[in-house]
Order: sequence, then C-alpha cells, then structure tokens
Amino acid sequence: MTERNKSADSAEKRAAGIAASRAVEPGMVVGLGTGSTVAYAIRELGRRVREEGLEILGVVTSYQSEMLAIEAGIPLTTLAQHPELDIAIDGADQIDSNLYAIKGGGAAHTREKIVSISAKRFLVVADESKTSLQLDKAVPVEVLPFAKELVTKKIRNLGGKPELRLALRKDGPVITDNGNFILDSSFCVINDPESLALKLSTIPGVIEHGIFSNVDELYIGKKDGSVEIV
Ligand code: 5RP
Repeated sequence: MTERNKSADSAEKRAAGIAASRAVEPGMVVGLGTGSTVAYAIRELGRRVREEGLEILGVVTSYQSEMLAIEAGIPLTTLAQHPELDIAIDGADQIDSNLYAIKGGGAAHTREKIVSISAKRFLVVADESKTSLQLDKAVPVEVLPFAKELVTKKIRNLGGKPELRLALRKDGPVITDNGNFILDSSFCVINDPESLALKLSTIPGVIEHGIFSNVDELYIGKKDGSVEIV
C-alpha cells in the first residue's frame, strides 16, 4: 500500500468514525469497539468529554480499546455495573448488503459481540473496502486451547478451512484477551450466515465466532470524506 493510499484509507475511516460518534448523546453508556476505524470515534468522544463536558460512560471491548479510551479521557464502567448499554460503536472486517458482518480481525470479537448485544443500538463503522454483496472472508473463531484439535476437525466437517492465527513473529499462536486461540476459518462464499453461525456456536470448545447478525446501522466512509448511512 502506498503512502497516498494509506492516508486516503484513514480519511475514510475517520469520516465514518466521527459521523457515528455524533449519535452519542449526553448521559449515554457507550460500548467502545476495537480497531483502527472505531479508534476515530473513541478519540472524538474523548475530545467532546474533555472540551465540551460531554458526560458519558464507556464499556471497552479489549485492552486496546481500554488503553485508547483512558488516553482519550473517557470515564469507564463495566457490564457488571451497566448491563444495558445505550449504544455500541465498532468496526468490521467485512459487511454484506443484509448487514451481516464478519469481525475479529483484532481477535476481540467475543467481547465485541457481548458488548454489542448488550446495547440498544449497534453502529458499525467502515470504509468502502469492507462492504461486499456476500461474505467471503475467513471467519475468526475463538477457541479454548484445550479444544483446538476437536474444533479444527468440526470446522473442516462443515466445509471450512481453519488456520491457527499466529503472532506477528510467527513463533506462536495469537492469544486473545481471554487467553484463547483464534482459528481463521475460510468457507469461501457464505450463502447463509445465520445457519453457519448456529453450527459454529454448537461446537464444544468454540468460545465465539466472528459472524455478527445484530448490526442496526452501517456508517460507510467514502474517499471524498462523505458518509453513507445504511
Ligand atoms: C476487532 C474487529 C475490528 O473491529 C475489525 O477487525 C475492523 O478493524 P479496522 O477498523 O482496524 O479495520 O473486529 O476484533
């Protein structure tokens, strides 16, 4: 990716993140997702907290979003203290025309799903490259390390190609914030996301998979800085 493309990509993500952050109103408890797109929403919310006295509470989905929210100055709470959130904002790796999404590129989808399903309204922020008519990206599946072999076999039986996600230096597996492994599982084109989601959920040892069917609104950042809300 050239430097020019990199900055264009950031402009799209920034546009989407900032537009979605405007849906947050005073007094709300807000789920804060993980990733480079939602980071723009988190920073903008932090700015409103610091400069405009916006009173909100955030619930984070990862150590990454916790560090960013603290740095931005957003007061935090927990699901134990606030089990029902007003809104959640998060990114996605791919999203189709029916608003089914694949998440988990940052290995945070288990907490992201718990937080988003706890919210009355779930907003996804993305640049145009994430949109697709149908889902065909690999589905991240968080698995208990003890169950890796069993889950691998069961995913293959479903027609998937599971691959253990490796750490950057390829000297070991990625370990999630929950202490588990990720199997990135390709199913080529996913014709029926609901059905696949159900099948994955019933495999013993699967903690959570990255198919989301609870997206309420999609904010798509465009190259010209505009945002389409679907
Ligand atoms: C993390 C996620 C992210 O939201 C997803 O990977 C999108 O990230 P980015 O905005 O950096 O492209 O699901 O688990």
